[in-house]
Amino acid sequence: MPHQPLPTNNQAGILEPPPGSDSLYPEPRRLFENHPIHLRELRPLNGQSILSARQFSLAQVVELCKLAAVLEKVEITPYHPLAGKIVVTAFFEASTRTRTSFESAVLRLDGKIISIPEARITGAAKGESLADIGEMFNAYCDLVILRHTETDAPEQILGRLRVPLINAGNGTGEHPTQALADWYALLKWNNALAAPPVPGTPKLQLGILGTPGSMRAVKSFLLLALRFKDHISRVTVISEMADPFGQDLSEDLAGAGIDYAVTNDIQHHLDQLDVIYMNSIAFLGDSYKTLDARFKLNRSSPLKPGAVILHPLARKEELSTDLDDTPHNLYFSQAHGAVFIRQALLTAVLGRIDRLPNQVHTVD
Ligand code: CP
Repeated sequence: MPHQPLPTNNQAGILEPPPGSDSLYPEPRRLFENHPIHLRELRPLNGQSILSARQFSLAQVVELCKLAAVLEKVEITPYHPLAGKIVVTAFFEASTRTRTSFESAVLRLDGKIISIPEARITGAAKGESLADIGEMFNAYCDLVILRHTETDAPEQILGRLRVPLINAGNGTGEHPTQALADWYALLKWNNALAAPPVPGTPKLQLGILGTPGSMRAVKSFLLLALRFKDHISRVTVISEMADPFGQDLSEDLAGAGIDYAVTNDIQHHLDQLDVIYMNSIAFLGDSYKTLDARFKLNRSSPLKPGAVILHPLARKEELSTDLDDTPHNLYFSQAHGAVFIRQALLTAVLGRIDRLPNQVHTVD
């Protein structure tokens, strides 16, 4: 049966990039046009807790990005994919993007939200354990999205939680859905990343300004980068630390067999990088710290023409606002696309990929 066109957000007059800013908002359509979504890759996510970027295969990341691209172009709410599902967003640490984009994703899919925007409105303020809070959540919802300052918070709540948990950032641990948002932005920017590399095509030089071992978003980004290693010629980590990885991540890098280098000399490397991932804020011990703050980018930085910058935000002085209206800015696309990749993930984890409108081109 021919696929009928879906109502799009273009027709609805929303979610379109501002005029003249196409280079900052890459077109999602090319990711799914003529490329059906392979549901068999997404079905294993049904009922799974998402704790680490290590959990995702390359095929799962690509199929999630294709589904996100559909959801970015389609007005999905009338199809009610999450009807009857209740999601708790439990944020025990500050957030602008992650909680709001998850909540937007649930609402756009016609699910319902119980929002806990800060720890002090829960029993944690009275010393209640995360395990006991998790036991309560079992009765209240179908899925929990947790952000916490403590790296072992997911482990603590999973002591009693029986519904799936999505880790929305745990101390210096991981931020796996941020990594999905990062790679969704990159796949829209360069669709070739969604397919095996064509022999002879130049590979990407990936740069990281930051310390992956201490910065959860950078760590999860790097872990997903290893899935795309066939598209990457080299990863250059520019950090103040002599060992910016820690043992686990060093083992991941060695296991992937990717070519990588560590340096503290930004000037020597910047003009060779195609993709630059940067961050400076890390929650270390009991407070926010600014790491690697001497590595700054601005409009005068010797960036390679065509290079793009990713930043999970919030930013400080390391990323000048004078780059915002240049084609190097992929960080706004990265932030805006997060709502759609989170929609895709929620649809898969809550077992609702069969409730997508039948006009969406899927295969099993
Ligand atoms: N990228 C990110 O995690 O941002 P928030 O801290 O605002 O959620």
